[in-house]
Amino acid sequence: MVTVITAFFRKMIPELSNPSVCMKDPQRVQKVLQSIAEAGANKLQVISDFDMTLTRFSYNGKRCPTCHNILDNSRAISSECKQKLADLLKTYYPIEIDTSLSVEEKLPLMVEWWTKAHDLLVEQKVRKDQLAEAVHESEARLRDGYEFFFNHLHKHDVPLLIFSAGIGDILEEVIRHFNVFLSNVKIFSNYMDFDESGTLRAFKGELIHVYNKREGALLNTGHFQELRTRPNVLLLGDSIGDLNMADGVQDMQNILKIGFLNDKVEERKQTYLDSYDIVLVKDETMDVPNAIVLYLT
Ligand code: C5P
Ligand code: MG
Repeated sequence: MVTVITAFFRKMIPELSNPSVCMKDPQRVQKVLQSIAEAGANKLQVISDFDMTLTRFSYNGKRCPTCHNILDNSRAISSECKQKLADLLKTYYPIEIDTSLSVEEKLPLMVEWWTKAHDLLVEQKVRKDQLAEAVHESEARLRDGYEFFFNHLHKHDVPLLIFSAGIGDILEEVIRHFNVFLSNVKIFSNYMDFDESGTLRAFKGELIHVYNKREGALLNTGHFQELRTRPNVLLLGDSIGDLNMADGVQDMQNILKIGFLNDKVEERKQTYLDSYDIVLVKDETMDVPNAIVLYLT
């Protein structure tokens, strides 16, 4: 796959010639970018996945944790339970990213993974006051350049929806830890339900897993109704399931999809190129999203 970089990109968004960038249809990317930029920041909304999209996939050769992993590896969990959670990860993560299985085949297995993991967390009687400590002691990291991404969108009053199949309470703690839980940020995720003593007793609402974000989006019509005057969408994800995050957007005019391809690159590259407008291969930075956000606003 050879990506042809047009004169427009070279001049306006030179980051699109970074070695990590792949595009199947650069002309479409240019057209959509120009339409969104022309309409201006007050017509734009950003929808982003969290784990392995806003957070790093690896750092110094070591995998970084997801929201679930932050808690799984923390002091709130017994060593016996840690082993069970690690076994679940070992069983189900390869299924999540397996290219030989269809989404339909993966669906029940993903529900099984999330359900088993959440049941174990409830059994562990996790306390609300243990979450901040778990995040502070973890290796969680937002991608390099995250400050610009969050602050720039905030400065231009562009709403940022973080749509995550992770754990909302942990996600909030991570962005608070990095000082980017700003007023334009809204979160859809799996939130914990604590009893009056602050002990986890269940998860609230409908489960969001990696392949049912469409249903999650459609349950939140109120949010998209509020943003109906913003028909242009910038979507960021790392999973094929993330492509459905914008399914609730009303009166959509333009959408540009940026996909981080972190793992199993060779097997998944063609699928990502067919689904995402811009694919960032093993890129741990926000450099390209930042350049795009700057161009669009
Ligand atoms: O924020 P995002 O939607 O990416 O969060 C989902 C991610 O959390 C999945 O990609 C999955 O690999 C991971 N996960 C996990 N442990 C679980 C369930 C999901 O690490 N028990
Ligand atoms: Mg993700």
